Amino acid sequence: MTNNPVTPELVQRIEQIVGEGYASTAPDDLEKYGLDEIEERYRGAPELVVKPRTTQEVAAIVTLANKHRIPVTPRGAGTGLSGGAVPVLKGIVLSLERMDQILELDLDNMMITVEPGVILADMMRAAEAKGLFYPIDVSTLDSCQVGGTIAENAGGARAVKYGLTGDWVYGMELVTPTGEIIELGGKRIKDVTGYNLIQLVVGSEGTLGVVTRITFRLTVKPRCSLDLLVPFDELDDAVSLILELLRREQSLVAMEFMDDLSVQATERYLNISLPHHDSRAHLLLQLDGMDEDGVWRAAERIYERLREGGAKEVYAADNRLTREKLWRARRNIAEALKAQNTYVSVEDIVVPRAKIPEMARNLLELSQRHGLVVPIYGHIGDGNLHPTPVSGDRDEGTWARDLDAFVGEMFHVVRALGGNLTAEHGVGLKRTKYLPLTLDAATLSLMAGLKRVWDPNEIMNPGKFPSAVEVAA
Ligand code: LAC
Ligand code: ZN
Repeated sequence: MTNNPVTPELVQRIEQIVGEGYASTAPDDLEKYGLDEIEERYRGAPELVVKPRTTQEVAAIVTLANKHRIPVTPRGAGTGLSGGAVPVLKGIVLSLERMDQILELDLDNMMITVEPGVILADMMRAAEAKGLFYPIDVSTLDSCQVGGTIAENAGGARAVKYGLTGDWVYGMELVTPTGEIIELGGKRIKDVTGYNLIQLVVGSEGTLGVVTRITFRLTVKPRCSLDLLVPFDELDDAVSLILELLRREQSLVAMEFMDDLSVQATERYLNISLPHHDSRAHLLLQLDGMDEDGVWRAAERIYERLREGGAKEVYAADNRLTREKLWRARRNIAEALKAQNTYVSVEDIVVPRAKIPEMARNLLELSQRHGLVVPIYGHIGDGNLHPTPVSGDRDEGTWARDLDAFVGEMFHVVRALGGNLTAEHGVGLKRTKYLPLTLDAATLSLMAGLKRVWDPNEIMNPGKFPSAVEVAA
């Protein structure tokens, strides 16, 4: 792997491509674009930040970079939590922020075509204005860009009913690492013509090219939607009820979990107060449907069952203000924990959901044995937890050592329970070294082989999986 420096001559040529003001070597920009929302210690240092406006500009930049063997790290809004957008081998950070147009809302085909820099919530609102619905709802919806949600195959809160980003991606335009512009998929609901490359690109964390246009499928906007906040004293009670309700109710859209430490952190951060905030476990449930009476009847059934099963209370949020307060509290936990601690590590494990109680018991045991405080929250209906160890008064060295020991053991438990390292945040920089725990040599070598075919000069987001894993092995 060669990674050549970005010469002043190259900066000039790239500036000619994108226009003055959109190719920056200013130290402030290099610093800002050297990091996403991963911990500071993973910071990278690009040599150039470039902000193209068109696919042709992207292709011209990538072609040049490929010719001169210069790393290119594509970047959305930088809200990622695993370091996927950190330019580890320097080179060029290619920010898609100026490619921010909603290009078409095709009502008859129920598809929306957008540029990658569109903010997720803006796309959702555009669909909803026409009675349609894009259901993938991640905590950073107001700031993240849709291109980033494709790079990570974002899941978020409504995966219980609506799946992941990839389930809604039907078409894309991609600039390959060698600079070709290709079209994958389209507005066809069914299409089995050849390998499903579009789903290979989804979740590939910017290692297989730059997505420059996307066509998402939309669905019908539910007429009614309702949220319930449910405090419990025991996580086990909460989970067994969840498993039962999922077998009986179709209207459940989201099943979010927050422990007492997470609830108290977000309360302090937002200066709000939630009921029963000392309870060990809080569930935030969302129901939706086309029939208002049907949703309310489901809510009543769920209410009865939760109360019988040990819920301390069930609060229904049926007006906009209350639901916004609840979801704001849930969405801000990661930010709150970061703001209140010197160091934190947002983990993203996933186990088959029936294993959640066992995983939670193991996390408690592990955190006690390692002397770490570990708030836990996440998407319990998907088996996806975000244990977030916090540093307390540890110095950086002690913290890194204790965290590594904890995370290593946690991943072994996760694997033993049939789970995996990351559900929705990606491998990024944080988890490359743990990949051999979960992918066997033959699988890793297939992934590395694919990467070589797509990106023979290893310029596209280098230093990440799968190439970095091979090097380490
Ligand atoms: C969340 C992010 C951390 O669930 O994935 O809030
Ligand atoms: Zn999450």
